[in-house]
Formats: sequence, C-alpha cells, structure tokens
Amino acid sequence: MTTWRIRDFQPNDLDGFLRLWEQYVAQVDVPVYALNEVIASTRADTAVVAVIGDEIAGVTVARAAHEQAWIVFLAVAEKWRRRGISRAMLGAIEQRLASQGISRMSILVPDEIEHVASLSRAGFADQRHLRYFERTIPIRQEEILLLRELGGRMLGRDRWDAIGGMTREKELLERRLVLPLGDPATAERFGVVPPRAIVLFGPPGTGKTTFAKAIASRLEWPFIEVFPSRLAASPRGLAGELREAFEKIDGLDHAVVFIDEVEEIASRRGGEPPSPTQAVTNELLKVIPSFREKPGRLLICATNFIRALDPAFLRHGRFDYVIPIGLPDDEARRAIWLTFIPEACRDQLDLDVLVHASEGFSPADIEYAARGASQAAFERAVTDDAGSAARGPELEDYLTATSQTRATVSSDVAREFEDDIMSLARV
Ligand SMILES: Nc1ncnc2c1ncn2[C@@H]1O[C@H](COP(=O)(O)OP(=O)(O)OP(=O)(O)O)[C@@H](O)[C@H]1O
Ligand SMILES: [Mg+2]
Repeated sequence: MTTWRIRDFQPNDLDGFLRLWEQYVAQVDVPVYALNEVIASTRADTAVVAVIGDEIAGVTVARAAHEQAWIVFLAVAEKWRRRGISRAMLGAIEQRLASQGISRMSILVPDEIEHVASLSRAGFADQRHLRYFERTIPIRQEEILLLRELGGRMLGRDRWDAIGGMTREKELLERRLVLPLGDPATAERFGVVPPRAIVLFGPPGTGKTTFAKAIASRLEWPFIEVFPSRLAASPRGLAGELREAFEKIDGLDHAVVFIDEVEEIASRRGGEPPSPTQAVTNELLKVIPSFREKPGRLLICATNFIRALDPAFLRHGRFDYVIPIGLPDDEARRAIWLTFIPEACRDQLDLDVLVHASEGFSPADIEYAARGASQAAFERAVTDDAGSAARGPELEDYLTATSQTRATVSSDVAREFEDDIMSLARV
C-alpha cells in the first residue's frame, strides 16, 4: 500500500505544484482562479501538499475571507487518484482553517472536472441552487490615481440606455464607434480600423455631452474631460498643460477624452497678430497624431459652432467622423419630458400633446418649461384652498409653460445646422 504524508506547502514545492497545475488546466477551459493568484495564496494563505516519497502527489490551497474560506486549488496527480488523498488534504486544510476561526469552506468546481466524489466524502454539500457569475473590473488600480489627477472617472453603465429616442444617432454611433472599439479583434479581421477621434456638432443643448458620456459608459472606458478654459489658468500656459494632460492619458489602458466647445481652442488660424489661442490650436494638432497611434482610446471633440473651426483641424486623418447631433426627435422629447414630470402625474397626462407642442425644443428648453409648469402648479396649490393641493401639475400647466418658452434653437440656426451637415459632416 502506498503511504503519503500531508504537510504545509513549502516554497520548494512550487515545481511539483506547477506540474499539477498543468494537468488541471489541460482539463478545464478556464480555471476559476488565475495561476498568479493561486501561487500568491500558497505563500500568504493556507496550503498543504501530499507527498509520496520525493513526489508531490497533491496540492490544496485555500484563501480565507472573514469567516468563510475558498479552496482556490485542489488537485491530485493522475496516477495517485482514488486513494483518498483529496479527502486527507481537505481534512488537513480544515483543521488549519478552524484554528483561524473559519467556519465554512467553499469550492467552485469547473464543469469539466467530473471526479467530485471526494468532495462529498469530505462532507461538502453540492449547492445546486447556486450559479456562478463573474465580472472583470474594467480599470486597474494604478489607473485610478492617474484618473483622479486628470479629473476623470468611470461612469455608470446605464447612460446609453438613458438616452431617449435619437435612434438614428444612436445606431450610427453604435456601428461606427462602439462596435469596433469594443471588439477590435473582430474589427481587424474585417479590415476595419477602429476610430480614434471624432467631432460631434450641433446646436446648443442637443445632447453632445450626453452622447460623449454615454459612449464612455457603453465601452466601460474612463471618461476624461479636458477643459481648455481651466488649462488656461495654469502658469505654464494652455499649450503646456494640454500636452501634459495627454501625456498622462497615455498611461491609461483605455480612455474616452472629451473636449467640449472645441471651437474655443481650434478656431480658424491666421490674423495679425496671431490670436492667443494659436499656440493651443497648434499643440492640439500636434498631440492628435500621437494620440491616434495607441489603440483603446477615443477623442471626442464637441462644438456648436463647427463652421468656426480651422479647416485643417477637421481634415481626414485627424478625425475619423464628423457627426451631427440635432434637436431631439419625438421619442427623445418624450423621454426628456418624462424625466421632469412627477411620477404621480404621468398617467393623467396626454404626453403626445406635449411632445407635439414642444417640437423644435432642445432638452434644456423642455427642462425650463417643465420647471415652469411645476412652479405654477405648486403656487396655485398652496394659495388655493379648494383642495387642489393634492394634485400635481396638469397638462394645461405644461402647455402654458411650453407656449411661454422660446426655443433656443431658432429656425435660422436650425437651417445653418442643415447647411453644416451638407458641407462638413462625415459619417
Ligand atoms: N436624448 C436625450 N434623452 C434624455 N435626455 C437628454 C437627451 N439629450 C439630452 N438630454 C438632456 O438634456 C440636457 C442637455 O444635453 P447636453 O448637455 O448633452 O447637450 P449639449 O449638446 O452638450 O449642449 P451644449 O451645446 O450646450 O454643450 C442634459 O441634461 C441631458 O441629460
Ligand atoms: Mg455640452
């Protein structure tokens, strides 16, 4: 009969462990824990080996988390199986964990591993009602510091869905940006080069910033806004600050970089003497090519005055797409109204009427009208003792407020936007 001995894992057991690891990964598609994690646990947590002669016949590694411990690795060499070695190792681990105050041991077993009988024999219950879910955190620890310095952040995952309507714009952005950037390997197979820089343009308040953030949220990339006006306050000057910001961004694996009101720093050049923003325009033109070299990043510039931009700035090779974002369509206006109408009042309102009455409104106009309606209804309720206090704003309130709100985007501006689409858009 073969006899084995169980003892604590020692640093020079690593070779034996690696041989078992290879056998294990040959069996499973994806190991539950990565090799470096298991090795770290052999050093810092609780690990035992089963030894037969000079040979490492089995290894068990556990990691404690509060009162529960997870077995992160359990394997017995092929030729030493069915001898009770697993059970013996689990018993030894259990003793060690119990002395640390651990009251529960858990183990996740990949589907491909069939011999789980030793687990039942060791007293483990098969929790068939549980399923395993996993998510990879999309940002590294070192990036968080860098992000903080840059004033960037990860945005919630729901921003894309929160954009109401605008299906044409959403579909375009999804196809041109989100899909190739999110799955660069497939894009490459088709010879699609994921975009690196785009311009969004459109009248004020149409959702350019909202879309830029939604793209970052959709890709699960950090969102960094570069504020030319804030950089200008620096003693080193705007150009130097801009360069430094882009150097820092270089240290991130992924990033959506957003420059709003880009016309402030990239307006037409020329003129004597050169305008003070000239150096910045030049700097921006210099940083874009190196920004474009690295995958995993997207520069989004937004403007509501695209015709003021330096034509050199917009040229091919610098920006992949120049995408118009117009006034909200019916669906978008409906969604925007809904964000401002108190929930209790929604059912009694004919939203179609409101959507129709607010044609040509920007989201900001809708917000203004909605707030006006709420205020009017509120004032009426608190001054009137006829019992209307319980009711919120009504359709009449919204329609009155809507008729008193002037659309920010005049018909002239709307027409200019159409012209800009014809002459400058590139989708
Ligand atoms: N499709 C939409 N659905 C819901 N809310 C929207 C939509 N589009 C815009 N909004 C809301 O409207 C407001 C204005 O949008 P945003 O700031 O993105 O516009 P903008 O084009 O960046 O404006 P500006 O030109 O002034 O910078 C925001 O509060 C935003 O949440
Ligand atoms: Mg904006």
